[in-house]
Amino acid sequence: MNAKQAAGYRAAELVKDGMTVGLGTGSTAYYAIERIGEMVEKGLRIRAIATSNASEELAVKYQIPLVKAAEVGHLDIAIDGADEVDPQMALIKGGGGALLREKLVAINSSRFVVIADSSKMVPHLGKFKLPIEVVPFCYEWTLRQLEARYPVPFEQRMREGGKYVTDNGNYIVDAAFGKIDNPAKLNEELKAITGIVDHGLFVNIASTVIVGYEDGRTEVK
Ligand code: 5RP
Repeated sequence: MNAKQAAGYRAAELVKDGMTVGLGTGSTAYYAIERIGEMVEKGLRIRAIATSNASEELAVKYQIPLVKAAEVGHLDIAIDGADEVDPQMALIKGGGGALLREKLVAINSSRFVVIADSSKMVPHLGKFKLPIEVVPFCYEWTLRQLEARYPVPFEQRMREGGKYVTDNGNYIVDAAFGKIDNPAKLNEELKAITGIVDHGLFVNIASTVIVGYEDGRTEVK
């Protein structure tokens, strides 16, 4: 068992009969979904909302019953990966481009469980480039605003064949802050810029962090 699998499987144990569950995105969340799928096959009764088209496909593959947000008041638990986790449990997320749905699901869950291999635990956030989701309309202006405010490199995320487009039809700009001294302040500042839909800083959202190690051990914080 690898570190991501250990963390994902450990988090799946928190899912109980009758819960409504947010399913994260990425290679660590994959393992949680896989294990939840096995539990459903053995009779666990849950409903779930996926944070990306990829995770939705996975949920369908594992026959995890999916519901629409409109059918659900609040989620009992959401389980998702992270790109960086600091000692205060502030996160950078969105490496897989799903940050908006991930944040929506996380903030509407009673418990947001982050699953991460130990390499994701950092003393401070910012080495991983911060993903910022921007609307395509006049995105050049939004980028210019960002560049004027912060003296750090920004690059528009690309993929083969052109610009990277999120499941919501937006673009991603990755910001190389290097070290983010005050994640809460940056969170507020970025949210206030017109053109930015959301960004990958998750401050005061995580309830629990499950760290997985290569020897299969897990640690719950
Ligand atoms: C996707 C995310 C992922 O949770 C994050 O990138 C971690 O991915 P992985 O588990 O593959 O390392 O935020 O938008």
